[in-house]
Amino acid sequence: MASTHDIEKAAGVLRAGGLVALPTETVYGLGANAEDPAAVSRIFQAKGRPPSHPLIVHIGGAEQLDDWVQDVPEAARLLAGRFWPGPLTLVLRRGHRVPLEATGGLETVAVRVPDHPVALALLHAFGGAITAPSANRFGSVSPTAADHVRAELGDSVDFVLDGGPCRVGVESTIVDATSGTPTILRPGGVTREDLEAVLGRPLTAPSTSQVRVPGQHPSHYAPRARVVLVEPEQVVTEAETARELGHQVGVLLPASLAGTPVKAHAVLTVPAAMAEYARGLYGFLRHLDQQGCDLIVACVPVEEGLGLAIANRLRRAAGPRPIV
Ligand code: TXA
Ligand code: MG
Repeated sequence: MASTHDIEKAAGVLRAGGLVALPTETVYGLGANAEDPAAVSRIFQAKGRPPSHPLIVHIGGAEQLDDWVQDVPEAARLLAGRFWPGPLTLVLRRGHRVPLEATGGLETVAVRVPDHPVALALLHAFGGAITAPSANRFGSVSPTAADHVRAELGDSVDFVLDGGPCRVGVESTIVDATSGTPTILRPGGVTREDLEAVLGRPLTAPSTSQVRVPGQHPSHYAPRARVVLVEPEQVVTEAETARELGHQVGVLLPASLAGTPVKAHAVLTVPAAMAEYARGLYGFLRHLDQQGCDLIVACVPVEEGLGLAIANRLRRAAGPRPIV
């Protein structure tokens, strides 16, 4: 776990224009000084991510919001006050301190206050804002432990702060709060139901098939293995048919089928509780990759509560991939 000395060292790396991997409650981020365009460009190189993809700017507290954005609608203040620190990202009008390099050229910026003691200590020691996407190669599964970052990004990160395993496990919920009527751009750690309870009205979440904002492509959050989504009653036959065809099959067995025998290369039974499933999801996908699976058979959970974010990530892991 990161010490006070590590946090001071990481703040120094940020000041010098370097990259620091930092734990958050959702996933690990690959951070740079948000006000340093050269450092921000290094993030895109390290991730292999197109520079048109906007990043999230992390700040140390809701009271700093007006330093980084302008024209904040009341609904956005309400959400920030209720959910920060926490897994909610608000898209607002860009303030002058945020360079266009961090927003992919957009006049809006995504901001959040992470709910992790190490991230908050780093933000405090550094004093500025840290822009950070998830600390993985572009398109692949987000890291939920420091070892995942080291394995995937290696020497392209100057310093890795270890904050233990991430508590939430899926990325933040992104809400477009530029207008008085916020909309969900990406489901995540704060549930739609919780947002609706605070706003006092229903919210729409995007269908996964639509590419709505830059940086949200159908195939994302994907393990190396191909992901196939089926109904629970088809899991066993789908897995066994694929195995007969010569695949190394990994199975994410729904909790309702726990104990059902499946002939497959690797079988993981997913937790029945959605918070636990979300926390484990990316680790499960990484594990099946490491076991040498080339195909993963899984089911989409009921799309309510955290199940909405899990379903979104599974659908996108199963989405069409670029030809390489
Ligand atoms: O939980 C999280 O959100 C993690 C941790 C590290 O904070 N971060 C994360 O960042 O997931 P990233 O870069 O993997 O995803 C950020 C997404 C982009 O892909 C893009 O879709 C959206 O945020 N985004 C950023 N700025 C935006 C903007 N101005 N308008 C619309 N969407 C934006
Ligand atoms: Mg990401």
